[in-house]
Amino acid sequence: MPDPLITELSEFLRIPSISTLPDHAGDCRRAAAWLIERFKALGCPEVQLLEGKGHPVVWAESPPVEGKPTVLCYGHYDVQPVDPVDEWVSPPFEPTVRDGKLFARGAVDDKGQVFTLLKAYQSILDAKGNPPLNVHFIIEGEEECGGQVIFDLLRDEPERTMVDAVVVADMGYYAPGIPAVYTGLRGICYAEIHLRTLQRDLHSGTYGGVAPNAMETMIRLLGDLKSRAGRISIPRLYKAVVPPSKAERKAWKRLPFRKQQFLREEVTGRALTGLKGFSVLERTWALPTFEIHGIRGGFTGEGAKTVIPAQAVAKVSLRLVPGQTYEKVGKWLTRAVKKLAPGYADVEVKLLHGGDPVLCDVTDPAFQVLDQAFEAVVGRRTVPVRAGGSIPVVPALQRGGAPVLLTGIGLPDDGLHSPNEKVNVQQIRDGIQVFGKFFELFAERN
Ligand code: BES
Ligand code: MN
Ligand code: MN
Repeated sequence: MPDPLITELSEFLRIPSISTLPDHAGDCRRAAAWLIERFKALGCPEVQLLEGKGHPVVWAESPPVEGKPTVLCYGHYDVQPVDPVDEWVSPPFEPTVRDGKLFARGAVDDKGQVFTLLKAYQSILDAKGNPPLNVHFIIEGEEECGGQVIFDLLRDEPERTMVDAVVVADMGYYAPGIPAVYTGLRGICYAEIHLRTLQRDLHSGTYGGVAPNAMETMIRLLGDLKSRAGRISIPRLYKAVVPPSKAERKAWKRLPFRKQQFLREEVTGRALTGLKGFSVLERTWALPTFEIHGIRGGFTGEGAKTVIPAQAVAKVSLRLVPGQTYEKVGKWLTRAVKKLAPGYADVEVKLLHGGDPVLCDVTDPAFQVLDQAFEAVVGRRTVPVRAGGSIPVVPALQRGGAPVLLTGIGLPDDGLHSPNEKVNVQQIRDGIQVFGKFFELFAERN
Protein backbone atom coordinates (compact mmCIF):
# COMPACT_ATOMS: atom_id res chain seq x y z
CA MET A 1 0.00 0.00 0.00
CA PRO A 2 1.44 3.40 -0.89
CA ASP A 3 2.40 5.38 2.19
CA PRO A 4 0.97 8.92 1.93
CA LEU A 5 4.02 10.36 3.67
CA ILE A 6 6.38 8.84 1.11
CA THR A 7 4.05 9.75 -1.73
CA GLU A 8 4.14 13.38 -0.67
CA LEU A 9 7.92 13.48 -0.20
CA SER A 10 8.33 11.73 -3.56
CA GLU A 11 6.47 14.58 -5.25
CA PHE A 12 9.16 16.95 -3.98
CA LEU A 13 12.00 14.55 -4.85
CA ARG A 14 10.74 14.12 -8.40
CA ILE A 15 11.62 17.73 -9.20
CA PRO A 16 15.22 17.74 -10.56
CA SER A 17 16.31 20.95 -8.80
CA ILE A 18 20.02 20.73 -9.62
CA SER A 19 21.16 24.24 -8.77
CA THR A 20 24.55 24.18 -10.45
CA LEU A 21 23.22 23.29 -13.94
CA PRO A 22 21.72 26.29 -15.77
CA ASP A 23 19.29 24.00 -17.64
CA HIS A 24 17.61 23.18 -14.34
CA ALA A 25 16.87 26.75 -13.24
CA GLY A 26 13.19 26.16 -14.01
CA ASP A 27 13.19 23.01 -11.89
CA CYS A 28 14.70 24.94 -8.97
CA ARG A 29 11.80 27.36 -9.28
CA ARG A 30 9.36 24.45 -9.34
CA ALA A 31 10.86 23.02 -6.15
CA ALA A 32 10.54 26.44 -4.51
CA ALA A 33 6.92 26.68 -5.71
CA TRP A 34 6.18 23.23 -4.30
CA LEU A 35 7.35 24.42 -0.88
CA ILE A 36 5.37 27.64 -1.14
CA GLU A 37 2.23 25.58 -1.78
CA ARG A 38 2.94 23.36 1.22
CA PHE A 39 3.46 26.29 3.59
CA LYS A 40 0.27 27.92 2.35
CA ALA A 41 -1.63 24.66 2.79
CA LEU A 42 -0.38 24.54 6.40
CA GLY A 43 -1.90 27.96 6.99
CA CYS A 44 1.25 30.07 7.17
CA PRO A 45 0.05 33.67 6.89
CA GLU A 46 3.40 34.92 5.62
CA VAL A 47 4.94 33.00 2.72
CA GLN A 48 7.50 34.71 0.51
CA LEU A 49 9.46 33.83 -2.60
CA LEU A 50 12.54 36.00 -2.18
CA GLU A 51 14.32 36.80 -5.40
CA GLY A 52 17.95 37.63 -5.98
CA LYS A 53 20.70 36.92 -8.46
CA GLY A 54 19.97 33.21 -8.76
CA HIS A 55 17.52 30.69 -7.38
CA PRO A 56 14.99 32.15 -4.94
CA VAL A 57 14.81 31.67 -1.19
CA VAL A 58 11.55 30.39 0.30
CA TRP A 59 10.49 32.10 3.51
CA ALA A 60 7.50 31.12 5.66
CA GLU A 61 6.18 32.18 9.04
CA SER A 62 3.71 30.44 11.30
CA PRO A 63 0.77 32.46 12.65
CA PRO A 64 2.36 34.71 15.30
CA VAL A 65 2.17 33.46 18.87
CA GLU A 66 2.49 36.33 21.32
CA GLY A 67 5.00 35.83 24.14
CA LYS A 68 6.42 32.60 22.77
CA PRO A 69 9.91 31.98 21.38
CA THR A 70 10.77 31.84 17.69
CA VAL A 71 12.64 29.00 16.02
CA LEU A 72 14.12 29.54 12.56
CA CYS A 73 14.44 26.36 10.47
CA TYR A 74 17.02 26.24 7.69
CA GLY A 75 17.29 23.79 4.82
CA HIS A 76 17.90 23.73 1.06
CA TYR A 77 15.70 22.55 -1.80
CA ASP A 78 18.48 22.28 -4.36
CA VAL A 79 20.36 19.06 -5.05
CA GLN A 80 23.62 17.87 -6.54
CA PRO A 81 24.04 16.64 -10.12
CA VAL A 82 23.33 12.94 -10.63
CA ASP A 83 26.28 11.73 -12.68
CA PRO A 84 27.43 9.03 -13.13
CA VAL A 85 23.79 8.32 -13.97
CA ASP A 86 24.43 4.70 -15.11
CA GLU A 87 25.31 3.75 -11.57
CA TRP A 88 21.84 4.46 -10.19
CA VAL A 89 19.83 1.29 -9.58
CA SER A 90 16.62 3.30 -10.00
CA PRO A 91 16.61 6.69 -11.77
CA PRO A 92 17.63 9.60 -9.49
CA PHE A 93 14.37 11.50 -9.94
CA GLU A 94 12.06 8.49 -9.72
CA PRO A 95 11.97 7.99 -5.95
CA THR A 96 11.85 4.28 -5.15
CA VAL A 97 11.56 2.43 -1.85
CA ARG A 98 13.67 -0.69 -1.46
CA ASP A 99 14.10 -2.43 1.86
CA GLY A 100 12.80 0.51 3.93
CA LYS A 101 15.05 2.98 2.13
CA LEU A 102 13.88 5.73 -0.18
CA PHE A 103 16.32 6.20 -3.06
CA ALA A 104 16.45 9.53 -4.93
CA ARG A 105 18.76 12.48 -5.40
CA GLY A 106 17.98 14.81 -2.48
CA ALA A 107 16.42 12.03 -0.37
CA VAL A 108 18.60 13.03 2.56
CA ASP A 109 20.47 16.10 1.20
CA ASP A 110 18.37 17.99 1.80
CA LYS A 111 14.79 17.66 0.58
CA GLY A 112 14.01 14.72 2.87
CA GLN A 113 15.17 16.76 5.85
CA VAL A 114 13.28 19.90 4.78
CA PHE A 115 10.20 17.69 4.48
CA THR A 116 10.84 16.35 7.99
CA LEU A 117 10.84 19.92 9.38
CA LEU A 118 7.67 20.73 7.47
CA LYS A 119 5.85 17.64 8.78
CA ALA A 120 7.13 18.28 12.30
CA TYR A 121 5.62 21.74 12.08
CA GLN A 122 2.35 20.28 10.81
CA SER A 123 2.31 17.85 13.76
CA ILE A 124 2.30 20.63 16.36
CA LEU A 125 -0.62 22.60 14.92
CA ASP A 126 -3.81 22.58 16.96
CA ALA A 127 -7.31 22.11 15.51
CA LYS A 128 -7.36 25.75 14.39
CA GLY A 129 -3.97 25.51 12.72
CA ASN A 130 -2.05 27.39 15.40
CA PRO A 131 1.35 26.25 16.71
CA PRO A 132 2.50 26.62 20.35
CA LEU A 133 5.45 28.84 19.33
CA ASN A 134 6.66 30.87 16.37
CA VAL A 135 8.31 28.85 13.64
CA HIS A 136 9.98 30.51 10.67
CA PHE A 137 11.45 28.74 7.67
CA ILE A 138 14.29 29.81 5.40
CA ILE A 139 14.84 27.30 2.60
CA GLU A 140 17.43 28.20 0.00
CA GLY A 141 18.05 26.91 -3.50
CA GLU A 142 21.78 27.50 -3.92
CA GLU A 143 23.47 25.64 -1.10
CA GLU A 144 25.03 23.10 -3.44
CA CYS A 145 26.36 25.64 -5.92
CA GLY A 146 27.66 28.38 -3.67
CA GLY A 147 25.07 31.00 -4.65
CA GLN A 148 24.73 34.51 -3.30
CA VAL A 149 20.97 34.99 -2.90
CA ILE A 150 20.66 34.00 0.75
CA PHE A 151 23.82 35.93 1.65
CA ASP A 152 22.51 39.12 0.08
CA LEU A 153 19.15 38.59 1.80
CA LEU A 154 20.66 38.14 5.27
CA ARG A 155 23.06 41.03 4.74
CA ASP A 156 20.17 43.35 3.89
CA GLU A 157 17.71 41.89 6.41
CA PRO A 158 19.72 40.53 9.35
CA GLU A 159 16.63 40.72 11.57
CA ARG A 160 15.44 37.49 9.98
CA THR A 161 18.04 35.64 12.06
CA MET A 162 17.27 37.46 15.31
CA VAL A 163 15.37 34.57 16.82
CA ASP A 164 15.66 32.31 19.86
CA ALA A 165 17.18 29.33 18.07
CA VAL A 166 18.11 28.26 14.55
CA VAL A 167 17.71 24.62 13.54
CA VAL A 168 19.80 23.50 10.58
CA ALA A 169 18.59 20.08 9.44
CA ASP A 170 21.20 19.22 6.83
CA MET A 171 23.41 16.67 8.54
CA GLY A 172 23.16 13.25 10.05
CA TYR A 173 23.59 10.90 12.97
CA TYR A 174 27.11 10.00 14.00
CA ALA A 175 26.16 6.33 13.57
CA PRO A 176 22.91 4.38 13.41
CA GLY A 177 21.08 5.05 16.70
CA ILE A 178 23.48 7.86 17.69
CA PRO A 179 22.12 11.33 16.89
CA ALA A 180 24.59 14.19 16.70
CA VAL A 181 25.02 17.92 17.07
CA TYR A 182 27.86 19.57 15.24
CA THR A 183 30.39 21.80 16.98
CA GLY A 184 32.07 22.65 13.71
CA LEU A 185 31.86 22.64 9.95
CA ARG A 186 34.69 23.06 7.53
CA GLY A 187 34.70 25.99 5.15
CA ILE A 188 35.50 25.77 1.47
CA CYS A 189 37.37 27.59 -1.27
CA TYR A 190 36.39 26.30 -4.72
CA ALA A 191 38.45 27.34 -7.74
CA GLU A 192 39.26 26.64 -11.35
CA ILE A 193 42.84 26.72 -12.58
CA HIS A 194 43.08 27.71 -16.24
CA LEU A 195 46.39 26.98 -17.90
CA ARG A 196 47.65 27.59 -21.44
CA THR A 197 51.02 26.78 -22.98
CA LEU A 198 50.33 27.15 -26.75
CA GLN A 199 48.05 29.09 -29.01
CA ARG A 200 46.65 25.89 -30.51
CA ASP A 201 46.80 22.11 -30.14
CA LEU A 202 49.73 20.54 -32.04
CA HIS A 203 50.70 17.25 -33.72
CA SER A 204 52.45 15.22 -31.05
CA GLY A 205 54.82 13.63 -33.57
CA THR A 206 55.99 16.75 -35.31
CA TYR A 207 56.34 18.79 -32.12
CA GLY A 208 56.62 16.11 -29.44
CA GLY A 209 59.88 16.56 -27.59
CA VAL A 210 59.88 20.35 -27.78
CA ALA A 211 56.40 21.82 -27.36
CA PRO A 212 55.14 22.45 -23.79
CA ASN A 213 52.14 20.24 -23.09
CA ALA A 214 49.43 22.05 -21.13
CA MET A 215 48.00 18.89 -19.63
CA GLU A 216 51.40 17.71 -18.42
CA THR A 217 52.12 21.14 -17.01
CA MET A 218 48.77 21.15 -15.22
CA ILE A 219 49.31 17.71 -13.75
CA ARG A 220 52.77 18.59 -12.46
CA LEU A 221 51.42 21.79 -10.99
CA LEU A 222 48.61 19.93 -9.22
CA GLY A 223 51.10 17.35 -8.02
CA ASP A 224 53.31 20.10 -6.63
CA LEU A 225 50.36 21.54 -4.68
CA LYS A 226 50.22 18.49 -2.41
CA SER A 227 53.06 16.22 -1.35
CA ARG A 228 52.85 12.45 -1.49
CA ALA A 229 52.59 12.51 2.28
CA GLY A 230 49.42 14.59 1.96
CA ARG A 231 50.80 17.97 2.94
CA ILE A 232 49.39 20.90 1.00
CA SER A 233 52.16 23.15 -0.33
CA ILE A 234 50.47 26.48 0.25
CA PRO A 235 52.51 28.76 2.51
CA ARG A 236 50.78 29.85 5.73
CA LEU A 237 47.93 27.36 5.34
CA TYR A 238 48.83 25.13 8.29
CA LYS A 239 50.14 27.96 10.46
CA ALA A 240 46.68 29.50 10.40
CA VAL A 241 44.96 26.36 11.70
CA VAL A 242 43.47 26.67 15.18
CA PRO A 243 43.65 23.10 16.46
CA PRO A 244 40.69 21.57 18.28
CA SER A 245 40.77 21.92 22.06
CA LYS A 246 42.08 19.12 24.24
CA ALA A 247 38.56 18.52 25.48
CA GLU A 248 37.20 18.20 21.96
CA ARG A 249 39.96 15.85 20.92
CA LYS A 250 39.37 13.76 24.01
CA ALA A 251 35.65 13.56 23.25
CA TRP A 252 36.46 12.36 19.72
CA LYS A 253 38.63 9.59 21.13
CA ARG A 254 35.62 8.32 23.06
CA LEU A 255 33.42 8.13 19.96
CA PRO A 256 32.97 4.63 18.60
CA PHE A 257 35.00 4.54 15.39
CA ARG A 258 35.90 1.45 13.41
CA LYS A 259 38.51 2.34 10.89
CA GLN A 260 38.34 -0.87 8.86
CA GLN A 261 34.57 -0.74 8.65
CA PHE A 262 34.72 2.95 7.72
CA LEU A 263 37.22 2.16 4.98
CA ARG A 264 35.28 -0.78 3.62
CA GLU A 265 31.69 0.41 3.88
CA GLU A 266 31.84 4.17 3.50
CA VAL A 267 35.08 5.01 1.73
CA THR A 268 34.91 1.81 -0.36
CA GLY A 269 38.62 1.97 -1.20
CA ARG A 270 41.61 -0.13 -0.20
CA ALA A 271 43.45 2.36 2.00
CA LEU A 272 43.03 5.68 3.74
CA THR A 273 45.33 8.49 2.73
CA GLY A 274 46.31 11.78 4.32
CA LEU A 275 48.67 13.30 6.84
CA LYS A 276 50.47 10.96 9.17
CA GLY A 277 50.17 11.45 12.91
CA PHE A 278 46.55 12.59 12.83
CA SER A 279 43.49 10.44 13.40
CA VAL A 280 40.85 9.99 10.71
CA LEU A 281 38.46 12.25 12.63
CA GLU A 282 41.11 14.97 12.90
CA ARG A 283 41.90 14.63 9.21
CA THR A 284 38.26 14.92 8.16
CA TRP A 285 37.10 17.47 10.76
CA ALA A 286 40.00 19.64 11.83
CA LEU A 287 42.54 19.83 9.01
CA PRO A 288 42.41 21.51 5.62
CA THR A 289 42.23 19.47 2.41
CA PHE A 290 43.10 19.99 -1.22
CA GLU A 291 41.07 17.95 -3.71
CA ILE A 292 41.11 17.79 -7.50
CA HIS A 293 37.54 17.40 -8.76
CA GLY A 294 38.15 17.19 -12.47
CA ILE A 295 40.57 18.09 -15.25
CA ARG A 296 39.50 19.14 -18.71
CA GLY A 297 41.64 19.46 -21.81
CA GLY A 298 43.26 17.50 -24.60
CA PHE A 299 41.46 14.59 -26.16
CA THR A 300 39.17 12.40 -24.06
CA GLY A 301 36.82 11.01 -26.72
CA GLU A 302 36.64 7.44 -28.03
CA GLY A 303 39.66 6.17 -29.89
CA ALA A 304 43.09 7.72 -30.25
CA LYS A 305 44.17 11.21 -31.23
CA THR A 306 47.82 12.23 -31.16
CA VAL A 307 47.70 15.74 -29.86
CA ILE A 308 49.65 18.07 -27.62
CA PRO A 309 46.99 20.02 -25.72
CA ALA A 310 47.36 23.78 -25.70
CA GLN A 311 45.24 24.27 -22.62
CA ALA A 312 43.90 22.55 -19.52
CA VAL A 313 41.41 23.44 -16.81
CA ALA A 314 41.28 21.89 -13.34
CA LYS A 315 38.50 22.20 -10.81
CA VAL A 316 39.89 22.09 -7.28
CA SER A 317 38.85 22.95 -3.77
CA LEU A 318 40.28 23.34 -0.34
CA ARG A 319 38.31 22.56 2.81
CA LEU A 320 39.04 25.09 5.51
CA VAL A 321 39.15 24.84 9.26
CA PRO A 322 38.89 27.38 12.10
CA GLY A 323 41.59 30.01 11.78
CA GLN A 324 41.27 30.16 7.99
CA THR A 325 38.96 32.27 5.86
CA TYR A 326 38.09 31.57 2.27
CA GLU A 327 39.08 35.06 1.24
CA LYS A 328 42.61 34.61 2.53
CA VAL A 329 42.98 31.04 1.34
CA GLY A 330 41.77 32.09 -2.11
CA LYS A 331 44.62 34.62 -2.27
CA TRP A 332 47.15 32.12 -0.97
CA LEU A 333 46.09 29.50 -3.50
CA THR A 334 46.31 32.01 -6.35
CA ARG A 335 49.79 33.03 -5.26
CA ALA A 336 50.97 29.43 -4.88
CA VAL A 337 49.67 28.45 -8.33
CA LYS A 338 51.36 31.42 -10.01
CA LYS A 339 54.59 30.60 -8.26
CA LEU A 340 54.54 26.90 -9.13
CA ALA A 341 53.62 27.37 -12.79
CA PRO A 342 56.58 27.42 -15.19
CA GLY A 343 57.33 30.65 -17.03
CA TYR A 344 56.07 29.29 -20.36
CA ALA A 345 52.54 28.76 -19.02
CA ASP A 346 49.80 31.37 -18.70
CA VAL A 347 47.87 30.48 -15.62
CA GLU A 348 44.79 31.99 -14.05
CA VAL A 349 42.92 31.05 -10.87
CA LYS A 350 39.18 31.72 -10.92
CA LEU A 351 37.56 31.55 -7.49
CA LEU A 352 34.09 30.11 -8.03
CA HIS A 353 32.73 30.21 -4.49
CA GLY A 354 33.65 29.94 -0.88
CA GLY A 355 32.42 29.65 2.66
CA ASP A 356 34.08 30.20 6.00
CA PRO A 357 34.54 27.45 8.60
CA VAL A 358 32.17 27.34 11.55
CA LEU A 359 32.55 26.70 15.26
CA CYS A 360 29.40 26.21 17.32
CA ASP A 361 29.18 26.54 21.06
CA VAL A 362 26.80 23.79 22.10
CA THR A 363 26.36 24.86 25.73
CA ASP A 364 23.28 27.02 25.15
CA PRO A 365 20.17 25.55 26.88
CA ALA A 366 18.56 25.07 23.46
CA PHE A 367 20.88 22.10 22.96
CA GLN A 368 19.47 20.46 26.07
CA VAL A 369 16.01 20.82 24.59
CA LEU A 370 17.20 19.09 21.44
CA ASP A 371 18.73 16.33 23.57
CA GLN A 372 15.44 15.88 25.40
CA ALA A 373 13.64 15.56 22.10
CA PHE A 374 16.06 12.93 20.77
CA GLU A 375 15.99 11.12 24.10
CA ALA A 376 12.18 11.00 24.09
CA VAL A 377 11.92 9.70 20.53
CA VAL A 378 15.00 7.60 19.85
CA GLY A 379 16.16 6.98 23.42
CA ARG A 380 19.52 8.69 23.09
CA ARG A 381 20.94 12.16 23.51
CA THR A 382 23.19 13.69 20.87
CA VAL A 383 26.95 13.31 20.74
CA PRO A 384 28.99 16.40 19.87
CA VAL A 385 30.92 15.92 16.63
CA ARG A 386 32.17 18.01 13.73
CA ALA A 387 31.51 17.68 10.01
CA GLY A 388 34.03 17.68 7.23
CA GLY A 389 31.42 19.17 4.90
CA SER A 390 30.40 22.80 4.56
CA ILE A 391 27.23 24.85 4.69
CA PRO A 392 28.35 28.29 3.55
CA VAL A 393 25.41 30.25 4.99
CA VAL A 394 25.87 29.08 8.59
CA PRO A 395 28.16 32.00 9.63
CA ALA A 396 25.43 34.37 8.42
CA LEU A 397 22.81 32.43 10.43
CA GLN A 398 24.99 32.81 13.53
CA ARG A 399 25.20 36.56 13.13
CA GLY A 400 21.80 37.13 14.77
CA GLY A 401 23.24 35.82 18.03
CA ALA A 402 20.90 32.85 18.38
CA PRO A 403 22.27 29.36 19.04
CA VAL A 404 22.54 27.44 15.77
CA LEU A 405 21.69 23.76 16.16
CA LEU A 406 23.39 21.82 13.41
CA THR A 407 21.76 18.43 13.34
CA GLY A 408 19.77 16.05 11.16
CA ILE A 409 18.49 12.60 10.49
CA GLY A 410 20.90 11.25 7.89
CA LEU A 411 22.96 8.09 8.34
CA PRO A 412 26.61 7.60 7.41
CA ASP A 413 25.78 5.27 4.51
CA ASP A 414 23.22 7.56 2.85
CA GLY A 415 25.56 8.40 0.00
CA LEU A 416 24.91 12.11 -0.29
CA HIS A 417 26.29 13.48 -3.57
CA SER A 418 26.85 9.87 -4.72
CA PRO A 419 24.81 7.61 -6.99
CA ASN A 420 21.96 5.84 -5.13
CA GLU A 421 21.56 8.51 -2.45
CA LYS A 422 18.94 7.30 0.01
CA VAL A 423 17.22 8.05 3.26
CA ASN A 424 15.90 5.42 5.62
CA VAL A 425 12.14 5.85 5.88
CA GLN A 426 12.32 5.23 9.63
CA GLN A 427 14.78 8.13 10.00
CA ILE A 428 12.22 10.44 8.36
CA ARG A 429 9.50 9.20 10.72
CA ASP A 430 11.73 9.58 13.77
CA GLY A 431 12.89 12.97 12.57
CA ILE A 432 9.35 14.28 12.30
CA GLN A 433 8.75 13.24 15.90
CA VAL A 434 12.08 14.59 17.14
CA PHE A 435 11.63 18.03 15.60
CA GLY A 436 7.97 18.07 16.66
CA LYS A 437 9.01 17.28 20.21
CA PHE A 438 11.74 19.93 20.02
CA PHE A 439 9.19 22.56 19.00
CA GLU A 440 6.84 21.54 21.81
CA LEU A 441 9.53 21.55 24.48
CA PHE A 442 11.03 24.78 23.21
CA ALA A 443 7.59 26.42 23.36
CA GLU A 444 7.36 25.62 27.07
CA ARG A 445 10.67 27.26 27.76
CA ASN A 446 10.51 30.74 29.32
N1 BES B 1 24.61 18.81 3.70
C1 BES B 1 25.86 19.08 3.11
C2 BES B 1 26.93 19.45 4.10
C3 BES B 1 27.30 18.34 5.03
C4 BES B 1 27.91 17.21 4.53
C5 BES B 1 27.06 18.43 6.36
C6 BES B 1 28.24 16.18 5.38
C7 BES B 1 27.40 17.42 7.19
C8 BES B 1 27.97 16.29 6.71
C9 BES B 1 25.70 20.20 2.11
O1 BES B 1 24.56 20.07 1.31
C10 BES B 1 26.86 20.20 1.16
O2 BES B 1 27.03 19.25 0.46
N2 BES B 1 27.57 21.30 1.10
C11 BES B 1 28.55 21.50 0.09
C12 BES B 1 28.78 22.98 0.05
C13 BES B 1 29.57 23.46 -1.12
C14 BES B 1 29.02 23.03 -2.43
C15 BES B 1 29.70 24.94 -1.04
C16 BES B 1 29.80 20.74 0.42
O3 BES B 1 30.13 20.54 1.61
O4 BES B 1 30.47 20.32 -0.52
MN1 MN C 1 22.93 19.63 2.35
MN1 MN D 1 25.09 18.57 -0.29
